Amino acid sequence: MKNSNHTPAIGLDVGTSRIVAAMRNSDDFQYKSQLNAFVTVPWSKMTEASLKREGVPFVVHAGSGGDKSIIVPGNESSRFADLLQTESRRPMNRGILNPSEPENAAMLKQLIDNLTEGERRNGLPVFYSVPAAPLGAEENLTYHDATIAQILRELNCEPTPINEGLAVVFSELEETNYSGIGISFGGGLVNVCLSYLAVPVLSFSVAKAGDYIDSSASSITGELSTRIRMAKEESFYINGHFTDKLHQVLNVYYDEMIRSVVNGLKEAFANSRNIPKMGKPIPMVLSGGSAMPKGFRDRFEKLLTESEFPLPLSEIRMATSPLNSTAKGALVAALAEL
Ligand SMILES: Nc1ncnc2c1ncn2[C@@H]1O[C@H](COP(=O)(O)OP(=O)(O)O)[C@@H](O)[C@H]1O
Ligand SMILES: [Mg+2]
Repeated sequence: MKNSNHTPAIGLDVGTSRIVAAMRNSDDFQYKSQLNAFVTVPWSKMTEASLKREGVPFVVHAGSGGDKSIIVPGNESSRFADLLQTESRRPMNRGILNPSEPENAAMLKQLIDNLTEGERRNGLPVFYSVPAAPLGAEENLTYHDATIAQILRELNCEPTPINEGLAVVFSELEETNYSGIGISFGGGLVNVCLSYLAVPVLSFSVAKAGDYIDSSASSITGELSTRIRMAKEESFYINGHFTDKLHQVLNVYYDEMIRSVVNGLKEAFANSRNIPKMGKPIPMVLSGGSAMPKGFRDRFEKLLTESEFPLPLSEIRMATSPLNSTAKGALVAALAEL
């Protein structure tokens, strides 16, 4: 199996903003990703022909009334949305699929199909990430979880769910035997998990993440969220001198996201009789796209320290590859079961 050209399992990060597949081919980890988004425009011969000439992948969808539309899914949707000055649509919101829009599941299936194309899918084990419930609430993840599992079975894969924060621990904390805190700062959610010897002891999510930052900034500056997001990903960094309004606004909402996670951590660990006595300080690892801006780790550490977080930490560090850790951890979990 070791040197086969086909991965023995897949780790799938089903995120609000991006779907990432991790594969192991010839002992190397490899990643593919797609934006979890699409753009729909009314069909016309002209549009179809132009998209073909531009090499933009699309699907023609026939509606119930016979009217056709063109759907541009995944990575190309962002550029396309920007060209058309329109917002792209998203199959998921705040970490889960929206049950009231069944076509979202079809969109998701197409993206997962694309990401796993070329693999020998016949019964292939796929560990897919699921979010934790918000702190103090019992979110109903059943529909979301069951739908992803069904999509994977339809694609001839064998699905197993894994908590997203735990996946971060599996990806980054082999050296402590998977004891530590993994945090994934994503698009829809921030997911937190305390793991002790690979057992998830406590996990929760916070619904203020990248999308919240984009939409809040958008409502202040009046620019489309898609635009804000592109600017944020290209050139934003934490603090420094504010060169423009957008930079200043983004900093405000970044702080708000970090503070709500810090408050969540404090709350979760303050009244938890279930936390085992670790014996020694444990590491905390930060990952996810929203943790990417320069200065993020320092800002997070500062605000966490100010909050007098009760658990002794050995370090707070960035994940090796923040955009891939959830998928990698899911793959590590899947490979351990083979
Ligand atoms: N270089 C970057 N700088 C700042 N934010 C980024 C960067 N890259 C991605 N993001 C943001 O990270 C979020 C997506 O992160 P990701 O971990 O893929 O989330 P999810 O798993 O929820 O889809 C989005 O809000 C995106 O705008
Ligand atoms: Mg993710």
